[in-house]
Amino acid sequence: MSARQIWIVDFGSQYTQLITRKSRELGYSSEIITVKKAREFFKEGKRPNALVLSGGPQSVFEDDTNYDFVFDNKELPILGVCYGMQLMGKYFGGVVEKGTIGEYGHAKIHLLNGFKMDGVPDEVNVWMSHSDHISKLPKDFDLVMESANGLVSAIEHKERPMMGLQFHPEVEHSEHGKDILNHFFKDVAKLEKDWDATEMLEEAKDLVRGIEKSKVLCAFSGGVDSLVAAQLSHEVIGDNLYCFFVDHGLLRPQDYNHIEILKEKTNLNIEVIDVKDEFMANLKGKSDPEDKRKAIGKTFIDVFEKKVKEYQDSHDINFEYLLQGTLYPDVIESISPHEEDGKSVTIKSHHNVGGLPERMNLKLLEPLRYLFKDEVRKMGEELGLEHGWVHRHPFPGPGIGIRVLGELTETRIAQVQQSDQILFEELHANNLYQSTWQALTVLLPVKTVGVKGDGRAYEEVICLRMVNSSDGMTATWTDMPHAFLSRVSSRITNEVKGITRVVYDITSKPPGTIEWE
Ligand code: XMP
Repeated sequence: MSARQIWIVDFGSQYTQLITRKSRELGYSSEIITVKKAREFFKEGKRPNALVLSGGPQSVFEDDTNYDFVFDNKELPILGVCYGMQLMGKYFGGVVEKGTIGEYGHAKIHLLNGFKMDGVPDEVNVWMSHSDHISKLPKDFDLVMESANGLVSAIEHKERPMMGLQFHPEVEHSEHGKDILNHFFKDVAKLEKDWDATEMLEEAKDLVRGIEKSKVLCAFSGGVDSLVAAQLSHEVIGDNLYCFFVDHGLLRPQDYNHIEILKEKTNLNIEVIDVKDEFMANLKGKSDPEDKRKAIGKTFIDVFEKKVKEYQDSHDINFEYLLQGTLYPDVIESISPHEEDGKSVTIKSHHNVGGLPERMNLKLLEPLRYLFKDEVRKMGEELGLEHGWVHRHPFPGPGIGIRVLGELTETRIAQVQQSDQILFEELHANNLYQSTWQALTVLLPVKTVGVKGDGRAYEEVICLRMVNSSDGMTATWTDMPHAFLSRVSSRITNEVKGITRVVYDITSKPPGTIEWE
C-alpha cells in the first residue's frame, strides 16, 4: 500500500504510531513504512506528498546509512522529528552533539525570530526524549523555536519545505503538538485534506470488493472490531458473509443481551453456536493460565473446523475467506535502519482463532488492517451502527475463562457473571461507562474472613479493575468516584453468593497487565 499522501519512516520510536494517528485526525492520510521500503519506493520513482522521519532510540553517531535518496529530493516536504531532525542536521552540514544536558521529559520552548504558527502561543511545554541535539544550525536553516536553556528545538529551511523538531509533537504531553504538526502539513508541505470517515470506509470496502461471489466466514464476537468488519463487508458481499458467534459459556449477561440485539437490529447473518459443554470439558482440571488459554484457543479452532465441515457436507457451502478485525497496530512492522534486511518485529495481539486459516486453507480478509481503533469507531458510526455498539469496552476472546483465577467451575463463573453485571449496571446508572476504557471483575483464588449477618464468614474476593488506555498496550487505572466504588462493593457483597470482600486494583500497565491471567 502506498496510496497515502504522507509516509512516516519508522526509526523505531515508541511514538511513531502516534504521528500517524495525529496526521489522520488532522485529515491527512498517512502510513508507516520502514527505511528499507522507503528506499525501494523511491527507487521505483514513487514519492509521497510529504515525508516524516520519526524519532528513534539510536544515535545519529551510530548510523552510517546514506540518506541522500531522501534529502536529494528538493521539492519533497520533509519533517524530521527528534532523530529525524538530527539526520537532517547532519546531512545539511549542521553540528549534532551528544547531549550533556539530557533534556528528557517536559521542556519549555518558545517561538523566536518572528516565526508564528496557527494556534500556537509564543511559549509552550513539550515532551523531549532525546539528548543528542543540534548545536550549530545546518546551512540555510532558520531557528524557529528554542528551549529555555538554549537548545535548538525547531528549525525550518529557508527555501525548501523542510522542518525539524527536537521534541515529540505527537505525544499528549506536548501542548499544541497537533497545531505544530498541522503547521507542517498545512503551511510547510501545503497538503490538501484527504482523510475522513467516508474515505476510510471506501478504502476498507475496497479490500473486500472483488470477492462478492465467495463465501466468507466471520468469527463474530459482537465486539467493535468484528461488528464493524462484518457490517462493512456485508455491504459489499451481502449474505455470502456468515457470522458465527461462539457461546463458550464464558460470557457475561451483557454479551448475551448484545448478541440478541444485534441479531434483531442488524441485517447480518448471525448464528450462535452453543458449545458450552465442549469448552467446560476441555477446561476441566486446568488451572494454569497458559493451559487454560491453550485449551480455549484449541476448542475455538475445533468448533470452527466442525462448522466449516458441516456447511460443506450439509449445505454444499465452501468457505474461502476468514474475515478478521485485525487493526493497524497488529500489522505494523518496525525495523531499525541497522537491520536493513534483518528482523522485522510484528506486534501481535491475541488471536483467538490463530491457526485456523492454515488448517482450513482459508484466505484472510482484514478490511481494518490499516486503521486504528478510534478510526474503526468513527467508521462504525458512518455505517449507521448505534453509538453504544461502537463504543463498547473490549472483551477478551477467552472471556471469563481468564477472569476466574485458577480452575473454572460453574459456581465461580456465575460469581464473575453476577459481579460483572452489577458493575455494568452501576457504570451505566452513574453515567460512567465511557469514563473508563475497560471495566471488569475478577474472582481471586483466595478466601478471607468476614462477617455476614451475625456470623463469621470465610468466603471469596472479587477484584474490580477499570483502566484507561488507547489501545490496551499501556494503561492507567481509572480513578473512579468513591461513592460509585462503594455502591458497587456493597451490591456485590450483598447480592453475589459467596463473596465477602471487594478490592480495587490500582496497578497500571506496565507493570500489571489489564487482565489478571
Ligand atoms: P492484557 O491483559 O494483555 O490485555 O494487558 C490487553 C487487552 O487485550 C485483551 N486480552 C485479550 N483479548 N484474547 C483477546 O481477544 C485474549 O486472549 C486476550 N487477553 C487479553 C484484554 O481484555 C485487554 O483489552
